[in-house]
Amino acid sequence: MFPIDSDGFLFLKMIIKQVKTSETWQVRHEVMWPDQPFEFVQLEEDNSGLHFGVFIDEKLVSIVSCFISDNEMQFRKLAVLPEYQGRGIASELLNYIFELARKKELRRIWCNARTNKKSFYEKLGMKDTFQIFSKAGQEFTIMEICM
Ligand SMILES: CC(C)(COP(=O)(O)OP(=O)(O)OC[C@H]1O[C@@H](n2cnc3c(N)ncnc32)[C@H](O)[C@@H]1OP(=O)(O)O)[C@@H](O)C(=O)NCCC(=O)NCCS
Repeated sequence: MFPIDSDGFLFLKMIIKQVKTSETWQVRHEVMWPDQPFEFVQLEEDNSGLHFGVFIDEKLVSIVSCFISDNEMQFRKLAVLPEYQGRGIASELLNYIFELARKKELRRIWCNARTNKKSFYEKLGMKDTFQIFSKAGQEFTIMEICM
C-alpha cells in the first residue's frame, strides 16, 4: 500500500525522521487518550526512547516511540491523526523502525497491542504471543516479530 491522500494522490512530501520526546505528546494525547490530562501521555521512560514521526507537508501526523534493551526493541504509542488513518502511514512508520532494528541486529521487536488492533499488526508480519492482560479497562496482547 502506498500512502495516498483522500483524492488518491501519493503523499509526495512524506518524510520519516527522529523527533524529540516532547514532539510526540500532542499526537499521543489527541489520538490515544484525549479524555485524560495532557501529562497522562508523558512516560517516565520517554527520555530513554528513540522517537520517530511521519511528516506530511511538514505537519507531524504520526508518531511511534522505541525502547531498546537486551537486544530487543519495544515500540509504544503508535498513533496516526484520525484524518490521516487508513492510508498506509502507520505501516510505513513500522517498516521504518523494523529496518532500523535489522540494522542494529536486534533479535526481536514487540509491542503491547490493543487486542482489537491485532489484525493490523499481523499484516506487518507480527505474531500474537497470546500473553493477554488488561490495563485501564483495555485488553492488550503482546505481539512480536523475531528477526
Ligand atoms: C492503528 C493505527 C496506528 C493504524 O494506522 P493507519 O495508518 O491507519 O494504518 P495503515 O493505513 O498502515 O493500515 C495498514 C493495514 O491495517 C489495517 N488496519 C488499520 N487500522 C486497523 C485497525 N484498527 N484494526 C484492524 N486493521 C487495521 C488497514 O486496513 C490496512 O489493511 P490493508 O493493507 O489490507 O488495507 C491508527 O488507526 C491509530 O492511530 N489508531 C489509534 C491509536 C491506536 O490504536 N494505536 C495502536 C495502539 S495498539
